[in-house]
Amino acid sequence: MDELITKAAELIVRSRNAVALTGAGISTESGIPDFRSPGGLWERIDPAEFSIDRFLQNPGRFWRLHLEMKASGDFNIGAAEPNPAHHALAKMEKLGLIKCIITQNVDNLHQKAGSCEVVEFHGNLLRAACMKCRNREPIEDVEERISNGGQDTPRCPKCGGLLKPDAVFFGEAIPSRALAVSQVQSHKCDVLLVVGTSLQVFPAAQIPLTVKLKAPPATVVEVNREPSALHEQVTDILLLGSAGDILERLLKAVEERFVPMV
Ligand code: APR
Repeated sequence: MDELITKAAELIVRSRNAVALTGAGISTESGIPDFRSPGGLWERIDPAEFSIDRFLQNPGRFWRLHLEMKASGDFNIGAAEPNPAHHALAKMEKLGLIKCIITQNVDNLHQKAGSCEVVEFHGNLLRAACMKCRNREPIEDVEERISNGGQDTPRCPKCGGLLKPDAVFFGEAIPSRALAVSQVQSHKCDVLLVVGTSLQVFPAAQIPLTVKLKAPPATVVEVNREPSALHEQVTDILLLGSAGDILERLLKAVEERFVPMV
């Protein structure tokens, strides 16, 4: 593993446009369960609960489920803190080595760790958005209005439209800006660091496939507890283990080789 980490560190230090693509696995060490590992969220909750059709059938029911999940600590994103994996990526951005993080996560932990260039491919669950006027507000304000008995089905204070968590539900489009920026970053990237994702959900999983189709193809470094669904097609360096441990070791190897531009 050490020689693979050294190889990955040398690639990142020499890269011109390294990009990170992260999934739920980078946040499990912050106490947020992933979806498809044993004990993951989809073992306990039917993913269809997070489809836009199901939400529109009964928005009040979804918001009650949302509050129950938060109260159970199952998915209490607001209370979670970044772990060493998030901090390592933020540090590599500060060194000018990671140009952008494309995250499938909605937990805001990359931003909390200090990363600036974060593409929220599936939105952000700390915000609620109006489906009519797109007005956004902290989701905690909406949760308070529901808990205080104000609104069973929360409405936008500006236009009265239906409020929905600002995360992408199954059946919804990826936010157009996130999609556009991800396409530009995929086109430019020469090293793609894939961390904590099973690469089973498209179009996010298309990103490593795209970077391999370029001429010359980018190099893909995968950090995962178990190999992703696409590792045979896309992965050049596979680092198996805990994201926190591996990214800390990768950062150390990068810092030992990094020569700041004067
Ligand atoms: N360190 C490294 N890898 C980990 C860790 C960890 N501590 N914990 C979990 N993993 C790995 C798992 O082995 C798995 O390969 O992270 C991956 C998580 O995969 P998923 O649970 O499928 O999560 P993700 O790939 O982000 O799902 C993509 O699916 O349900 C939708 O919208 C949801 O954004 C999500 C999308």
